[in-house]
Amino acid sequence: MKICVALFSLACACGAANLTGRWVASETLSNGQKRETTVALIDEEGSLKGFVAVRNPMLIVAGHVNGDNLSFTILRESSGVETRVDCTATVNGNELKVTIPNDNNRPPTVLTVTRVSTEKPAMPAPKIALSNDFPAVKYNGLAKTPPMGWNSWNKFHRNIDDKAVRGIADAMVSTGMRDAGYVYVNIDDTWEGQRDANGVLQSNEKFPDMKALVDYVHSKGLKIGIYSSPGPKTCAGYEGSFGHEEQDAKTWAAWGFDYLKYDWCSASQVYDVKSLPAVYAKMGEALLKSGRPIVYSLCQYGWQDVGEWAAKAGGNLWRTTGDISDRWQSMMHIGFELQQGRAGYATPGHWNDPDMLEIGNGGMTDEEYRTHMSLWCLLSAPLLAGNDLRDMRKEILDILINREVIAVDQDPKGVQGVRVAKDGDREVWAKPLRDGSQAVGLFNLGKEPAVVTANFSDLKLTGSHSVRDLWAHVEKGRMKEKFEATVPPHGVVMVKIAK
Ligand code: GLA
Repeated sequence: MKICVALFSLACACGAANLTGRWVASETLSNGQKRETTVALIDEEGSLKGFVAVRNPMLIVAGHVNGDNLSFTILRESSGVETRVDCTATVNGNELKVTIPNDNNRPPTVLTVTRVSTEKPAMPAPKIALSNDFPAVKYNGLAKTPPMGWNSWNKFHRNIDDKAVRGIADAMVSTGMRDAGYVYVNIDDTWEGQRDANGVLQSNEKFPDMKALVDYVHSKGLKIGIYSSPGPKTCAGYEGSFGHEEQDAKTWAAWGFDYLKYDWCSASQVYDVKSLPAVYAKMGEALLKSGRPIVYSLCQYGWQDVGEWAAKAGGNLWRTTGDISDRWQSMMHIGFELQQGRAGYATPGHWNDPDMLEIGNGGMTDEEYRTHMSLWCLLSAPLLAGNDLRDMRKEILDILINREVIAVDQDPKGVQGVRVAKDGDREVWAKPLRDGSQAVGLFNLGKEPAVVTANFSDLKLTGSHSVRDLWAHVEKGRMKEKFEATVPPHGVVMVKIAK
């Protein structure tokens, strides 16, 4: 019997046509872009190697052919973690129907690819693996309080240029934002041009003279930031810093930049994703070596317990989540849910970054923007305005420059606030301040007005304490045991509670 089974499977493997070659499917996405999926197979007597490339190539690490049926395992990366995924496929002449299971109970991806060649495909270059056992990058001494400024991405996306940045710098001064503490004017993705013959990265036509722009921004008493990726390309498809880390750090330093946001983007194409901390340390070292003090902002979406290693890689701040958008659900999910358990990583010089502000971009109510600002300040988050400062309603400016609220964010003790009580949609958050008082946010995440109570026992307070409303700038008097307030839907009452 055993012999029969062995002979049968041998016959199947040998009888089937060899599947070596490239199999491709092209589709047009809803945004009009074309997407090509390649299944590259090397069939060695029924044993399979190769890769599946939807965007990045996913290696086939084991696989075999049994008649018209294939089974193989690919390495798929998701949120910075590589997992093995068992796939199946069936051959029908020149067509291969591939089924790739998905996570989180999502239906599998089913692809039909057509054979376009029978040649043995070239395998992608092996990924670079760096050791995470690197010496700690020396602290650069910057960002003793969370960085404050502005960033181009949330409002302008790709439509940012020299003129707009100068206009924003002017507005930062004329609106009083600079004097309220907002000093960094940060250019995000899409400034990058080509490398010259010596590999020196140039800016593109939107930024004809970076040095002149930097000088202009500095002349306003402001600082200026730039953006890149450790990958070959940035998230918007522009030139990244892969293989040019020290050279780029020197270029930015020579232009006079004071801040770098370094965004993982395409880096998984070249690096084994497990190397992520070491990849960030590489730029951390390069920035130090540049000789210019440059705040280092890590943008890697919170992958791989970033709080555990970001400071060691030289980071002053590090993103804890994917991108924020200008919607209540997005801000609420990122701010109230995804920041839990991270407070222990924040210290002066090193901050969790729940992403840039959306205040004033139009997708939320002013009440919701006040909630956004209050929570970010309680979280000791970087405050990077993301709206068009040249064209802003007074109500929005008032939210951004309320000094009593900003003082909570910038408190020199540098302790990140935490949620101390939750009752359905009612949440109380507290942050200890250097003078011994606490900043407390009474939040109502529900759709109806609600009475929210901050019990002093949750704040570890006994006796009576003075309460000051930080948005209204009024003393509420001395309270015992609790402070409570009626809070509007999606709103906040933020107070300082002191002896
Ligand atoms: C990623 C980042 C964003 C922004 C864009 C630019 O999505 O998370 O903050 O920098 O890239 O392409």
